[in-house]
Amino acid sequence: MAPGNASSIHRFGQEAKQRMELARRQVAMAVGAKPDQVIFTGGGTEANNLAIFGSLRPGKRHVITTAVEHPAVLSPAREVEATVVPVDGQGLVDPDEIRRAIRPDTALISVMSVNNELGTIQPVGEVLAIAREHGVPVHTDAVQALGKTAVPAADFVTVSAHKVYGPQGVGALVARMPVSKVTFGGHHERDRRPGTENVAGIVGFGAACADLTAPEASLRDRLEELILERIPRTRVNGRGAPRVGNTTNVLFEGIEGEPLVIGLDLKGFAVSSGAACSSGAVEPSHVLTAIGLSREDARSCLRFSLGRGNTEEQVVALVEALEPVVARLRKLSPAYA
Ligand SMILES: Cc1ncc(COP(=O)(O)O)c(C=O)c1O
Repeated sequence: MAPGNASSIHRFGQEAKQRMELARRQVAMAVGAKPDQVIFTGGGTEANNLAIFGSLRPGKRHVITTAVEHPAVLSPAREVEATVVPVDGQGLVDPDEIRRAIRPDTALISVMSVNNELGTIQPVGEVLAIAREHGVPVHTDAVQALGKTAVPAADFVTVSAHKVYGPQGVGALVARMPVSKVTFGGHHERDRRPGTENVAGIVGFGAACADLTAPEASLRDRLEELILERIPRTRVNGRGAPRVGNTTNVLFEGIEGEPLVIGLDLKGFAVSSGAACSSGAVEPSHVLTAIGLSREDARSCLRFSLGRGNTEEQVVALVEALEPVVARLRKLSPAYA
């Protein structure tokens, strides 16, 4: 790996710069943008913050977003004046709700491309058309779309390397419009994101972007079919919406997601229960409550993400491991009658 600082003019620096610029072209190609529109950041979270705070202008400080965004959008949105638009029972936003939320001082509309918990694909193209009519820029958090489905050509697009088999801690904001920097220092990244670039991470991100393969939905469908067939009182969240092929979110009535995660971990399967522990209490996922689940049901869901190299045998083994864990937990659960 080139150890140089990409801003240095000596040979080592220039070698690092060349590699970084190759990665910039690779990332740009993967999202259908121009290389000079790619601003490398320390991940998706930073890119979302840059898009939101960097779009604010005098007299334009209002942001529109949706109830199912990742905290990396919802938290910065809470720091500004924001309208958070609800979603339907499948997790989809109604573009007309976005239209109704637009105000003269709206600086940005931020709608994610693909939801990280449900895998549902939002109608970002329709949102873009509405925003164009009103001259409002659109940001899309495409962290979960890259490599899985088409990345919308929004004015600002967030991507993150570690969701496409690249390294952790590196991402990019693709900016097709000017964006104001939100941290201050040197003039890196065309004066939009100061600080010495993470060349090794960026090179890894570029390589990952040059090697994207969209997941097949067939394995996910098989997993859902087996769970619904073998385990009673289960339901797939967001199943009625267009979805990417790797994610499924399943409700197991009457039990908590956390012990299910632990039970499966002991059997060698890594899954996630969208709930997060905050101040000692397990908070249900805001995405699942936004689609209408009760707090109790939202705590009873698991998210399964299938990746490269997963096989049908593994899917079958997973369901075989899941059945007895669910049965045991339900026996112990007063909520499962
Ligand atoms: C939809 C979405 N946005 C943003 C992020 C945050 O990206 P990063 O972890 O690179 O900061 C994630 C990560 O899980 C995500 O799923």
